[in-house]
Amino acid sequence: KKDNEVIKIGFSQCISTDQWRKDMNHSMMVQTSLYPNINLKISEADRSIEKQIDQIESFINEEVDVLIVSPLETKRIVPVIEKAYNKGIPVILIDRKIDSDKYTAFVGADNIAVGRMAASYIAASTKNSINVLEIKGTDNSSPTLERSLGFHQVAERESKINKIVSIEDYSDQKFANVLDTLDVTDFDYVYSFNDILARWAWQVAENKGLADQLKFVGVDGLVGPDGGINMVLEGKLEATVLYPTGGAEAIKLARRIHEGEKIQKNNSLNITLIDKLNADIMKNQYEKISEQQEELERQLEAIDIQEQKYYVQNNLLKVAMAL
Ligand code: FRU
Repeated sequence: KKDNEVIKIGFSQCISTDQWRKDMNHSMMVQTSLYPNINLKISEADRSIEKQIDQIESFINEEVDVLIVSPLETKRIVPVIEKAYNKGIPVILIDRKIDSDKYTAFVGADNIAVGRMAASYIAASTKNSINVLEIKGTDNSSPTLERSLGFHQVAERESKINKIVSIEDYSDQKFANVLDTLDVTDFDYVYSFNDILARWAWQVAENKGLADQLKFVGVDGLVGPDGGINMVLEGKLEATVLYPTGGAEAIKLARRIHEGEKIQKNNSLNITLIDKLNADIMKNQYEKISEQQEELERQLEAIDIQEQKYYVQNNLLKVAMAL
């Protein structure tokens, strides 16, 4: 192992716009800044599978030392990932899985467990027989499939859950129609693929004056004004399942793989249920961590500036001595 050898990491991020993805990128960058010899490049595919394939091709051509991928979906991405893997580039999958076992490691939470946790929570928080509306994700990603699967596994066995109606299209109109055509007074809970959809569903219901009759459960549990934790504190969400991004863990894994350490293929991250009983604590913890992160970033910047000053002074000294 050479100490100062630069490790080139390429990260292919499937979606660019939402806060959860931004948090993932950010935690990778913070973790990277702790290791001066890691060079991290992030490419964002804007929800386009073609773009993601191209970006991974570029990483292969650039001969990255480790490739990290959060794949948009399970199937079409397989050939390019196998290509990288067969060339000997270690591949870390993060958050989403693929239909192949040609990758080095997976890091992320168990989405079947996420769905089960939501269903158990809903069943435990009611005494009566209830009906649930499920709003699924729309892509073919493993979280979309598994969060629904896990939810059904538990909910269908719960005697208190009487009926589950699932909708897949999350355009506003579809949900508005559902609210019109179904008797919403017939529903008690709305389980959404993520907090973004839960917020939107809550808004549609609120506009119709129906939000108080429904209880909403989401997934992600981000901090920040639009995040799930605040929605729980505001009473819009009954609960959310904290789904960690794994950004820092992926960088740590990449480094260990590059150093030749033996690592586990499946690296599972913990999930936590957030409801009004622990939302405050979660929020405080998050705020402390991000304060510490900001402090760390400030210190790293200060070191950078000091180093630059040192190099300038050193060079001036050399010039002066040469004169
Ligand atoms: C963000 C997101 C999250 C979700 C994750 C699943 O792009 O949709 O809301 O938890 O991706 O891959």
